[in-house]
Amino acid sequence: MKKIVLFVAACVFSLGLAVGAAQATDAPADGLKVTNYGKKAAVTFDHSKHVNEATCEQCHHKASEGKYKCGECHKAKAGDAPSFKKAAHNKEKACWSCHNKRGKTPKKVLKCNQCHKK
Ligand code: HEC
Ligand code: HEC
Ligand code: HEC
Ligand code: HEC
Repeated sequence: MKKIVLFVAACVFSLGLAVGAAQATDAPADGLKVTNYGKKAAVTFDHSKHVNEATCEQCHHKASEGKYKCGECHKAKAGDAPSFKKAAHNKEKACWSCHNKRGKTPKKVLKCNQCHKK
C-alpha cells in the first residue's frame, strides 16, 4: 500500500514538473465567453474539458508570442487573420476538427446550438 502511495505521489510530482516546464501561462477558469460580437450568442468554453485533449499550442498557435486571445487577431471580418468564424470552424486545426463529423479527428460531434446557445 505504502509503495502504491509513493508511486502515485512520484507520478503526480513528475507530471507537475512536465506541465510546469511546458507552460508559461495557466489555463483560465471555465466559463470563458468566446465571441467576436457577431449575431449569435457567445460560445462558452471550458478549458478543463480540453486540456487533456490538445496541447495549449495546438489551439493557441501564437502562444510563443504570448498571445492567447484569439479574438485579438481573429475579428468578425477577415483582416490579417481569417475571420473568427472561419478560424473556429476550421476542420483541420480548431473547434471543428473535433466537433464536426467531417473534422480531422472527430471526438465529440456537436450541433450548432450546443456551442451557440441561440
Ligand atoms: C464547437 C463549437 C461550435 C459549433 C458546433 C459551431 N460553431 Fe459557429 N462558431 C464557434 C466559435 C468559437 C465562433 C467564433 C466566435 C464568434 O464569432 O462568436 C463561431 C462563429 C460563428 C458565426 C459568426 C459569428 C456570429 O456570432 O455571427 C456564425 C454565423 C456561426 N458560428 C454559425 C454556426 C452554425 C450555423 C453552426 C452549425 C452548422 C455552428 N456555428 C457550429 C463555435 C462553434
Ligand atoms: C481546444 C482549444 C484550447 C486549448 C487546448 C487551450 N485553450 Fe486557452 N483558450 C481557448 C479559447 C477558444 C480561448 C478564448 C479566446 C478568446 O476569447 O479570444 C482561450 C483563452 C485562453 C486565455 C486567455 C484568457 C483571457 O480571458 O484573457 C489563456 C491565458 C489561455 N487560454 C491559456 C491556455 C493554456 C495555458 C492552455 C494549455 C494548458 C490552453 N489555454 C489550452 C482555447 C484553448
Ligand atoms: C496574434 C494574432 C493571433 C492570435 C492571438 C490567434 N491567431 Fe489564429 N491566425 C492568425 C493569423 C495571422 C493567421 C493566418 C495564418 C497564420 O499566420 O498562421 C491565423 C490562422 C489561424 C487558423 C487557420 C485558419 C485558416 O482558415 O487557414 C486557425 C484555425 C486559427 N488561426 C485559430 C486560432 C485560434 C483558435 C486562436 C485562439 C485559441 C487563434 N487562432 C489565435 C493570428 C492569430
Ligand atoms: C482536440 C479536440 C478538441 C478541440 C480542438 C476542441 N474540442 Fe471542445 N471538446 C472536446 C471533447 C473531447 C469534449 C468533451 C469533454 C468532456 O465531456 O469532458 C469537448 C467539449 C466541448 C464542449 C461541451 C459540450 C457539451 O455540451 O458537453 C464545448 C461547448 C466545446 N467543447 C467547445 C469547443 C470550442 C468552442 C472549441 C474551439 C475553440 C473546441 N471545443 C475545440 C474536444 C475538442
